[in-house]
Amino acid sequence: MVEAASFRGDFPILQRRIHGQPLAYLDSAATTQKPRAVIEALTVFYEQHNANVHRGVYTLSEEASALYESARAKVARHLGADSPRSIVFTRGTTEALNLVAAGWAGSRLRPGDEIVATEVEHHSNLIPWQMAARHTGASLRLARLGADQTLDVGHLLSLIGPRTRLVAVSLTSNVLGTVTPLGEIVARAHAVGARVVVDAAQAAAHLRFDVRALDCDFLAVSGHKLYGPTGIGALYGKPDCLEEVEPVQGGGGMIEWVEAQTARWGPLPARLEAGTPSVADAHALGAALDYLRPRMEEALRHEQRLTAYALERLLAVPGLTLFGPKKPVLRAGVFAFNLPGVHPHDAAELLDGQGVALRAGHHCCQPLMRRLGVTATLRASLAIYSSTEDVDRLVAGLSTVRAALAS
Ligand SMILES: Cc1ncc(COP(=O)(O)O)c(C=O)c1O
Repeated sequence: MVEAASFRGDFPILQRRIHGQPLAYLDSAATTQKPRAVIEALTVFYEQHNANVHRGVYTLSEEASALYESARAKVARHLGADSPRSIVFTRGTTEALNLVAAGWAGSRLRPGDEIVATEVEHHSNLIPWQMAARHTGASLRLARLGADQTLDVGHLLSLIGPRTRLVAVSLTSNVLGTVTPLGEIVARAHAVGARVVVDAAQAAAHLRFDVRALDCDFLAVSGHKLYGPTGIGALYGKPDCLEEVEPVQGGGGMIEWVEAQTARWGPLPARLEAGTPSVADAHALGAALDYLRPRMEEALRHEQRLTAYALERLLAVPGLTLFGPKKPVLRAGVFAFNLPGVHPHDAAELLDGQGVALRAGHHCCQPLMRRLGVTATLRASLAIYSSTEDVDRLVAGLSTVRAALAS
């Protein structure tokens, strides 16, 4: 039995009732709920510090700028970056990956160059590379899923060759819950002079990692999957790699000097942050990291125990097909599964009626779904505030779903 973590009371929304039932929120891979500290940070910012950043010399603007830059430093510390200058604020992982695809790949790749990604990727870490390949004449090669339903790392390594310029891979899969062993992939990519882009959307809140140890060149995260607000995320880049990224948006805040016909870009990271940024959201992301970091070890232990518990309980549901590895050590708290003869959307609707919130669909991973031989799955995912009771309610709900819907 895993104790419900003490964190639960910090998340006001978990007090809600849905259809008269307490909420069992099991969709944290889509977005995490927000602790009170984050909600208050947003309110305090707008009540006390709201002004535009980097433009005013008056007190409020200086305060807003200081909070914005302090949030950048917190993101840098969380990711293990050497300097806040390695952090570009974006709207999220999707925007960060698109920035590398358009601003780096778009201006550097040539026909005949190769991008290597995988069949396991979320569309956000696939479509930008399709677009970059189409735009530059480069080709996109995808590493396949292995027979054990984990990424075939050997195949990925075999795709990295002299024409490879970029390798894009996720650290944690949002469907299989698997964690990609990046060491050899990064070493092989660097040996052929390729850059490595890591999609850490699912990893940033649930895995301890460090960009220096990973030695990746770029890494993308979303604030809203990290207990922070929507609309804010970050791209980490090694300084020399970020220098190679061309701005894809021009406007205020990113220039050093402008003439009628030309302009010179300002220094990083502002060069890649044209326009007024999401200052309050960045500040609240900083508050999310202030909340998470001191609790991280306990949270990870809790999530690991709960992952093992959920796996055991789900695997005991008659007929349930769980995708991905069955051993808890091989996975994070994300479980994609199906029940025989039950459409995932129908199941998710019935479960919602019991206050259990989980996802049904292709999870923005259509190539992976095809490889798994399905069009959609149910997906339950855990976070710091998840409890055994949430898992028990899901499992109990699945028996009523089977009784009502299984053909
Ligand atoms: C692995 C992975 N990559 C990228 C994304 C995209 O994140 P966002 O929509 O926050 O940009 C997600 C979102 O679910 C994800 O799970």
